[in-house]
Amino acid sequence: MKIIIINGPNLNLLGKRENDIYGNQTFKEFFEILQKKFPKVELSHFQSNIEGELIDKIQEVGYGYNGIVLNAAAYTHTSVGIADAVRAITTPVVEVHISNTFSREDFRHKSFVAPHAKGIIVGFGLQGYDLAVQSFL
Ligand code: DQA
Repeated sequence: MKIIIINGPNLNLLGKRENDIYGNQTFKEFFEILQKKFPKVELSHFQSNIEGELIDKIQEVGYGYNGIVLNAAAYTHTSVGIADAVRAITTPVVEVHISNTFSREDFRHKSFVAPHAKGIIVGFGLQGYDLAVQSFL
């Protein structure tokens, strides 16, 4: 079972970015705990601030992996390119947002990815990634 978590722009700053919204934990700390929780899953992580690199990664894993957990961050609300990549691949994608995007600004209510995702997990903090992994098992 191969699952990858793909994180978009500014999610490399987790732990020091807007702690009231995104919490105090770094993604590295959280990811190590997650890997221990699912020892039978080949769990990997990729982060980029660059739209094209996210598209390249989605294409690379999108025909071989069992699941993609995608937090495209700000690109969720803007990127037709990422949405088309999710649409093109055969690996199911679960969209995750740490914060409840629907309780925030209007521009965060729109997701170009959501129509092509298997499901969406929004507003449960980093636990959302855990729930997304579980959804593939
Ligand atoms: C986010 C929500 C987005 O609106 C925002 O641009 C992010 C993070 C979240 O996980 O809550 O960078 O995707």
